[in-house]
Amino acid sequence: MVNTSSFVPVTAEDYHRLAARRLPRFLLDYIDGGAGREESLADNEADFRLYRLQQRVMRDVGDVDTRTALCGRDVAMPLALAPIGMAGMMARRGEAQAARAAAAAGVPFTLSTVGICPLEEVNAAAGAPCWFQLYMLRDRGLVEALLQRARAGGCATLMFTVDLPVVGMRHRDTRSGMLGGAPLAKARQLLARPRWLYDVGLRGKPHRFGHLVEAVADPNDLDSYKAFVDSQFDPGVTWKDIEWLRSRWPGQLIIKGVMCVADAAAAADCGAEAVVVSNHGGRQLDGVASPVSVLAAIAAAVGSRVEVLMDGGVRSGADVVKALALGADGVLIGRPWVWALAARGERGLADYLETLRREIAV
Ligand code: FNR
Ligand code: LAC
Repeated sequence: MVNTSSFVPVTAEDYHRLAARRLPRFLLDYIDGGAGREESLADNEADFRLYRLQQRVMRDVGDVDTRTALCGRDVAMPLALAPIGMAGMMARRGEAQAARAAAAAGVPFTLSTVGICPLEEVNAAAGAPCWFQLYMLRDRGLVEALLQRARAGGCATLMFTVDLPVVGMRHRDTRSGMLGGAPLAKARQLLARPRWLYDVGLRGKPHRFGHLVEAVADPNDLDSYKAFVDSQFDPGVTWKDIEWLRSRWPGQLIIKGVMCVADAAAAADCGAEAVVVSNHGGRQLDGVASPVSVLAAIAAAVGSRVEVLMDGGVRSGADVVKALALGADGVLIGRPWVWALAARGERGLADYLETLRREIAV
């Protein structure tokens, strides 16, 4: 057992270990879990090992620069923080802390539709507009209102997620009681984490979904949130709806969740500026390929028409470099940023991002 008081976390795995000691069980399981038997979840990370870098020497590396541009924005390195629902439950005002760390590191922060902190709070904390992530909801009026709100907040980039017409079967959430579980079991998990209870549970309020305050019956209650998701996430959504969206969003549009050439081309045909090759971190369709294994073919086919980002299993600077070598313009980091935030707050995430930057440079 590691003595965590003197332990200096460095890698994603280090932060995971610390987050596991901080978070109530059902929250850790919500972050870590994937769909079904979690085969795709495992492949996402493991498949990075199928690719090995070619080492060259004697090349004068005295002037290495990790800076680049993503979706019209200058960034300090080719990555952005992925949208993560409910990050505000993992650390006190979690999305605001994360957006501050991202701004300080010079990378974009993507705020989820189902974030806790509203985008106005997040943008004020960071001193810069975030990227905003949206799903298609049955209530198109609500979609338009959220687009309007994102524009009013200065957000120039919309990340639209297309791989969640229905929520995947995540068995860890059933086992842990995350949604619809016995209240007593959850109370026991909470009582086992007094530091979280005080720091996040008490001082991190309100825990409502910042963008859905009017839409969710009782935004403080996870079960009414589930009812909202079940009734509002639109399983009938098609590319026609993306054309509709395109006509209403004048900023940059990123389509997140394509896994084959045909879908990436359809996103480009709709006028998107970028795609994210992603299987939602293995949380949606178990048995689907890992994003890194399909990246090269997609980048080769559509890379001249749209920027190609990828996510799923990126844990280190070497992984980022592999994704670039396979044709990506940049990557999104998902779970690791939440682990770092849960473990050590804004400071932990800042340190983790600096480690990634240095690993990429090396
Ligand atoms: C997600 N993801 C996600 N995606 C999205 O478009 N909107 C969202 O609200 C969420 N919420 C969310 C919550 C949690 C706890 C996780 C782990 C993931 C998917 C996320 O943006 C990203 O695609 C994956 O996390 C990338 O895989 P890695 O980096 O976690 O392996
Ligand atoms: C998830 C949803 C919120 O993956 O996108 O949990």
